[in-house]
Amino acid sequence: MTPSPETGWLARWKRDLAAAIEEGGGRHDEVEIYGGELGDPGLAGGPDSMSWEIHGDLASLVVAGTAAILMELLHPSVMAGVFTHSAYRTDPLRRARNTLGYVLRTTFGNTAAATRVIEGVKKVHSRIEGTRPDGVPYRALDPELIGWVHTAIPWAVMTAYDRYRRPLSREEKDRYLREQALIGRMGGAERVPESVDELEAYVERMRPLLSMNEQTHSFLDFLAGRTDDFPIGARERFDRWVAIRASMSLMPEWAQRLTGTWQPSLVQRLWLRPADQLKARIVRWVYPELPCKQMALARATGRRLETTEIAAA
Ligand code: HEM
Repeated sequence: MTPSPETGWLARWKRDLAAAIEEGGGRHDEVEIYGGELGDPGLAGGPDSMSWEIHGDLASLVVAGTAAILMELLHPSVMAGVFTHSAYRTDPLRRARNTLGYVLRTTFGNTAAATRVIEGVKKVHSRIEGTRPDGVPYRALDPELIGWVHTAIPWAVMTAYDRYRRPLSREEKDRYLREQALIGRMGGAERVPESVDELEAYVERMRPLLSMNEQTHSFLDFLAGRTDDFPIGARERFDRWVAIRASMSLMPEWAQRLTGTWQPSLVQRLWLRPADQLKARIVRWVYPELPCKQMALARATGRRLETTEIAAA
């Protein structure tokens, strides 16, 4: 991160916020992943790609995170896999760090490291299988499930960037989805949307397969702090109530209603969206430039990154 001139309490507040963001999301500055052979653009298209622009904005990733996860879990097979095999209840931050790490590494990592990350996650997924509460068998490497989880992430992130950073043209959105589709296919998906039209048609096709069940309600209760896993106070519960609804406001109304997170449009416009706009601005103030993007830029353009720049990042 580039040091900024703030001093006193403002500087301390910024440092505390950076520490809190890093605790939740990790640092993502490993030289062996983001450095590497000069001229290597990585998997997602390199410095001129939409993926680099959009994923370089940590604020959009933060704001979109909850919506992406909830959309993934509306598929009961994904929900069953996570409910049964994931450590989210005992170590929720690890899951957030790993997912953010996956997006950043596949975008900014050198080609070999990004490919290794995808293969490593596939190996984890190869052990995840079972039977849903309604008796339907599932396995995480089912291309349909991988396709759905893959799609939920760029869909939510793109919508957040478009709303809170700058409006994207149709062509830019198509380009972003096309770049991301490559990562989805490498992760084991077969058909993933490569344009806004395809995304809309795909989501409509998936809709009948999505639902809320006891496991999803239990996950949502956990997220909202309504379980005994990590007891929190009324203020924190209220903040989470707002954060979940604000993030889900990125998604279509049917998804908000299905998850019980829908709020009237006045509440969305006057409260939820401004709350996420403010959150996005604060994250951007704390992290104007992601260290991994700076390192990747130096690698891809063949510019040597000075040790002081790495230390500052
Ligand atoms: C492209 C789609 C997917 C991506 C990008 C993704 C991403 C990830 C990542 C980064 C990890 C962490 C691996 C590690 O611990 O190092 C992980 C673990 C896991 N994934 Fe996925 N995943 C996808 C699809 C799925 C699907 C379809 C299911 C369920 C059916 C699933 C269930 C799990 C579970 C249960 C874990 C175990 C670790 C934990 O959450 O504690 N994932 N996934």
